[in-house]
Amino acid sequence: MADTDDIREGNNFGLGIAAESKSFYLKGMDGMDWGLKNRMARIFNRKSGRTVMLAFDHGFLMGPTSGLERIDLNIAPLAEHADCLMGTRGMIRTSIPADNTKPVCLRTDTGTTILTEMNHNVLIDEVEAVSMNVSAMAAMISVGEATTEHKTIANFSKLVDIGMKYSIPVMGVTAVGKDMARDARYFGMASRVCAENGASIVKTYYTEGFEKVVACTPVPVVIAGGKKLPELEALELCYNAIQCGAAGVDMGRNVFQSENPLAMIKAVAGVVHDDLKPTEALELYNDLSNEAK
Ligand code: 5RP
Repeated sequence: MADTDDIREGNNFGLGIAAESKSFYLKGMDGMDWGLKNRMARIFNRKSGRTVMLAFDHGFLMGPTSGLERIDLNIAPLAEHADCLMGTRGMIRTSIPADNTKPVCLRTDTGTTILTEMNHNVLIDEVEAVSMNVSAMAAMISVGEATTEHKTIANFSKLVDIGMKYSIPVMGVTAVGKDMARDARYFGMASRVCAENGASIVKTYYTEGFEKVVACTPVPVVIAGGKKLPELEALELCYNAIQCGAAGVDMGRNVFQSENPLAMIKAVAGVVHDDLKPTEALELYNDLSNEAK
């Protein structure tokens, strides 16, 4: 029987204080389920409304690319400085300690490597995503590639069905056909197609006119870093994207291929969360690198 000793009658009902009904702090999320919003709140910093996601999913396409030869040595130590970790099930299970408390965005699609035609048309089983306690799932949409567009969109749509069932946000990773200009028109279209198909986050590339990409995408947009750039240029890329309304980055090579990945992720976080200017963030990068010598 339940313990009935000393049951205290409630007397603090806040009478006269209306219950607040607030809008959620991330765009496009008001109509979402509590669980999905709660997962988004793990990924996006409440104060800045932005995120620094650390992407290390490249190996499923490229194998052990530079900086990702040993995820346990090169990526795991950076985890505490990221807001979210984006990787594949294999690398997360084997190389990220299970006592990691950072949210995970699981790369869920696969199919081919860079050695053949891009064709991501396989999704991992939903049970795996749930059992791995992920905060988001990611899959690519390839727009404008005749042989893969319909497969990747169907795949993505299926992933959103799964995400909605379990309140797990889905991040759309945009790709445009190899003959298409990598500009705001096509990345804007690919981003919009992700959102139309139910993405809660869109990952795309910064281009001139990026404010239009952000404006036509009614959910948070984060940028990929792309190929390794000199540190100042990578920080300028982040800064410009944030100025255009990006909700952060999902960056890989410009962090883990930097001469000092730890200093770089902190400098990127300075731009994303603290509105540092690129030169201020570079100064932070240089100071941290010099301290480490
Ligand atoms: C590839 C991806 C990568 O995660 C993405 O490109 C981010 O990494 P980088 O900053 O190195 O471009 O989604 O499909």
